[in-house]
Amino acid sequence: MTMPRHILAPYMATPADVVERMVRLAEVGEGDVVYDLGCGDGRMAIAAGRRGAHAVGVDIEPYWIEQARSNAAAAGVSARVSFEQRDALELDLAPATVVFMYLVQWSTQRVAAQILGQCAVGTRVVSHSFGFDTVAARSETFEDASGQPRTLHLWVAGDNAVGPGADPARGAST
Ligand SMILES: C[S@@+](CC[C@H](N)C(=O)[O-])C[C@H]1O[C@@H](n2cnc3c(N)ncnc32)[C@H](O)[C@@H]1O
Repeated sequence: MTMPRHILAPYMATPADVVERMVRLAEVGEGDVVYDLGCGDGRMAIAAGRRGAHAVGVDIEPYWIEQARSNAAAAGVSARVSFEQRDALELDLAPATVVFMYLVQWSTQRVAAQILGQCAVGTRVVSHSFGFDTVAARSETFEDASGQPRTLHLWVAGDNAVGPGADPARGAST
């Protein structure tokens, strides 16, 4: 029997300069374990690998996993960065210190609930475009290199100011 697939978002690429801003916002560095949910061509995981982190990217589409592996090899980060064809909803995110995503509104909230249940206190979560709704996040809006407005949301699991149980009035800023 074929199991139903959960399509969390169509493919849309995050521009390279926005990816760089995401890794800076999450303060990714050596020692981090980064999960890239719906990795597409692997650009977020690869950017994390370039900063010395270990990263795992998952995508439900085999095509993107092939592309991501080839891009990681070209970037020279294959030793630290791996990709798996998986449903992000079936992952165990407990090892993550950083989670990246660019999904859509409903699936971002679905994944936020998964993170809330699985991730350790201090895990930094950065979402391109879509917020977490049920958890307070700090947000920043800016223009990307092509002049298009972009918003990033940061949530730190367990942080009273930016996290579960937070006062949204304290957590929100631009
Ligand atoms: C908006 S794209 C983001 C791609 C990349 N992270 C970026 O920002 O450039 C969303 C990706 O999620 C993948 N996806 C959709 N549903 C998924 C699921 N259940 N598990 C894993 N990946 C999924 C899609 O195939 C697509 O590549």
